[in-house]
Amino acid sequence: MKFFVDTADVDAIRELHALGMVDGVTTNPSLILKSGRDILEVTKEICSFVEGPVSAEVVALTADEMIAEGRKLAEIAPNIAVKVPLTWDGLKTCKVLSGEGKMVNVTLCFSANQALIAAKAGATFISPFIGRLDDINMDGMDLIADIRQIYDNYGFDTQILAASVRSANHVTQCALVGADVMTAPPAVIKALASHPLTDKGLEQFMKDWAKTGQKIL
Ligand code: E4P
Repeated sequence: MKFFVDTADVDAIRELHALGMVDGVTTNPSLILKSGRDILEVTKEICSFVEGPVSAEVVALTADEMIAEGRKLAEIAPNIAVKVPLTWDGLKTCKVLSGEGKMVNVTLCFSANQALIAAKAGATFISPFIGRLDDINMDGMDLIADIRQIYDNYGFDTQILAASVRSANHVTQCALVGADVMTAPPAVIKALASHPLTDKGLEQFMKDWAKTGQKIL
């Protein structure tokens, strides 16, 4: 499963990138706001060191305007994935931009039918939002499993990019049901290294080592 990092915080991306944890990046208008940076400038900086797909989201609501925005975003770097919302206009945009050879990430997906039509419109990535479904007492992971089954039934190439990942458990479940990619905030990716028994075991080793009176260096 590929790891994308869900942030426009360049320092956080660099830290994870140095460890080989960044197969790509996703951003959205809320994350651009949080970064306090200009979208074109920060996206260009991210693309200067991230080799994999970097999603940059359009903000227009009509297909003609989304297509124009998408073309402008795609000029930033060859690894831009234009992110479009799962609306009828977003699907028209997906069809046009994917036909031009651009990567398209169709976002704000909350149903299997939405994922099905995004694949038919040529999406490179479909982004089902797990956490936001969990927030309304639905099971986001069921949606990932349903999309996996549907795409496999018909051999769609669209990659399932599990989004709105909020916990380490979400990451495990995504890998188990076969998401192609998951995108998570830096804190969730870092939390994957944590286990209370690791902390407890290390504490005991340090106590015993101190008692030996030895040094390695
Ligand atoms: C990524 O593409 C999404 O925009 C993001 O994962 C949404 O996450 P959230 O529901 O935690 O805001």
